[in-house]
Amino acid sequence: MLVQITNVVKRYKQVIAVDQVSLGIQEGEIFGLLGPNGAGKTTLIHSIVGLVPIQSGTIEVFGLDHRRDEQAVRQQIGVVPQELSIFDDLTANENVAFFGSLYGLRGADLQAKTAQALEFVGLLDRRKQYPKTFSGGMKRRLNIACGIVHRPRLVIMDEPTVGIDPQSRSHILDSVRQLNREGMTVLYTSHYMEEVEQLCHGIAIMDNGRIIAQGTKDELTDLVARDEVINVRLGTLNGNTETALRSIPGVKECRVDGKDLAVISQKNAGNLSRIMQTLYQEGLDIEALSVEQPTLESVFLTLTGRNLRDE
Ligand SMILES: Nc1ncnc2c1ncn2[C@@H]1O[C@H](COP(=O)(O)OP(=O)(O)O)[C@@H](O)[C@H]1O
Ligand SMILES: [Mg+2]
Repeated sequence: MLVQITNVVKRYKQVIAVDQVSLGIQEGEIFGLLGPNGAGKTTLIHSIVGLVPIQSGTIEVFGLDHRRDEQAVRQQIGVVPQELSIFDDLTANENVAFFGSLYGLRGADLQAKTAQALEFVGLLDRRKQYPKTFSGGMKRRLNIACGIVHRPRLVIMDEPTVGIDPQSRSHILDSVRQLNREGMTVLYTSHYMEEVEQLCHGIAIMDNGRIIAQGTKDELTDLVARDEVINVRLGTLNGNTETALRSIPGVKECRVDGKDLAVISQKNAGNLSRIMQTLYQEGLDIEALSVEQPTLESVFLTLTGRNLRDE
């Protein structure tokens, strides 16, 4: 294990942001930490790199204690923070070089690694420009270049794709895969289950400070493999629908999001017709209907009764 986190607790006054978290990240993997806003992802990352003190538990990185050997640990970690951490009055090149120098790079080595990092995120030809001329996606990519310039052994990316255009998003996801192919272990946090599903080997799902499930994507979806998700789009709305659907035997969860319903039901329980019947009884029109296999989204829904995207 490259990172071993055991029973970590982090409190802010009365808020327990990280609650008895244990997880292990293997060398060479892309590890996904998936959870809604406020789950505790950023706090856990800050705990790993020693930005906030933890109340109890242990964190080992590269086999070293993260506090006792803080310097050695930090030298080999690259952090791409959730909040952009770039300077508007420095050019792209100067930004990356600044972070490289913080990690002890100097002279020709610094210049070469700076150029390499800019090239990697597709910004080499814009290196002399200031970030204020950049789109949101380009700023995110510059933020990534700053975090990887020293070629760390472990790179931690905290929600690197929030609020950017689809093209920049796919560029970033590709670059995470590329870094991993080059040998970097990646800890990737997100509240987008599709990203984590596509990208990550090991996955931990976090909610309210706790890890509620952990495993590979297949292991996690096996947790709900005996279920199916019935998606219904309604033409009209009715306040009783959720209660009525939940009372059908074999229905485990039901979530109403505007006119969209997601019902998690035991497979082969014959519930499709019961659900349609219930909706007709409620006087509701069905505009569209589909049945799908469980995803990480349905794992989360089944375990917590809430959609992952809830703020
Ligand atoms: N500096 C802080 N002071 C007080 N509470 C905080 C602080 N940072 C985070 N929290 C709280 O800790 C919880 C976890 O937050 P955070 O780690 O940012 O979650 P996530 O990154 O998953 O969105 C939230 O309830 C948040 O309000
Ligand atoms: Mg966060």
